Amino acid sequence: MRKAILAGNWKMYKTNAEAAQFMQDAAVLTASEDLEFVICAPFTTLGALTELAAHTPIKIGAQNMHHSEQGAFTGEISPIMLKHLGVQYVIVGHSERRTYFHEDNAFIAAKVKAAFQHSLIPILCVGETLMQYEANETEVVVREQTETALQGLSSEQVKQLVVAYEPVWAIGTGKTASAQDANHVIGYIRQIIAGQFDSTVADQVRILYGGSVKPENIAQFMAESDIDGALVGGASLAFESFKELAKAIEG
Ligand code: PGA
Repeated sequence: MRKAILAGNWKMYKTNAEAAQFMQDAAVLTASEDLEFVICAPFTTLGALTELAAHTPIKIGAQNMHHSEQGAFTGEISPIMLKHLGVQYVIVGHSERRTYFHEDNAFIAAKVKAAFQHSLIPILCVGETLMQYEANETEVVVREQTETALQGLSSEQVKQLVVAYEPVWAIGTGKTASAQDANHVIGYIRQIIAGQFDSTVADQVRILYGGSVKPENIAQFMAESDIDGALVGGASLAFESFKELAKAIEG
């Protein structure tokens, strides 16, 4: 069975002091056999957080990285740098990166490969924009995003992959996809992976829903057969809210 994931995406929020406070509060969380906790934090906080998180069940992720090991890429961070800090996960292809920083599917695919090469687990974000949703293009869009990102990976790598289906129109808007619709698209993503690899591989990939997930609505997503957890932005910032999310999953 797939182990569920509750992943927070802090985006461009929290100073080191604020991040440290969250992690100190998180010492009350109890580790669970059935649920993994991940916090994807700003680069500036990662070094401190990987140490502080050792007293909690939380694993630390980055929100982005460059695909090269090193080089003349001013302002960028490499997979090696993350690995050396003790980071375990990295969000790749978040819609805010695609939209504001023009990251395309090929660039994102290079990052996914680089993550695996350095034993980081990528959390690959896919999802359609409002315009694509209204034009009924959701399946075409997630197919292209998923297939391109997974090209050239081994089955063993794909089994470890985490995908987050995040309809762009649901991110930070307070609107969510219905749990049934999210489950349908996530089931479709699993079919795409089964086609590209096989169903044994597809059955092991953990696929999360993201987009305005809150303590009040997370249970309905978790109740769906193909949804293995959530990638949460706004509602992951305050520790009390993160704890409520965990409580709602654990029931
Ligand atoms: P949100 O963000 O939960 O604030 O909608 C989700 C995300 O961007 O991953």
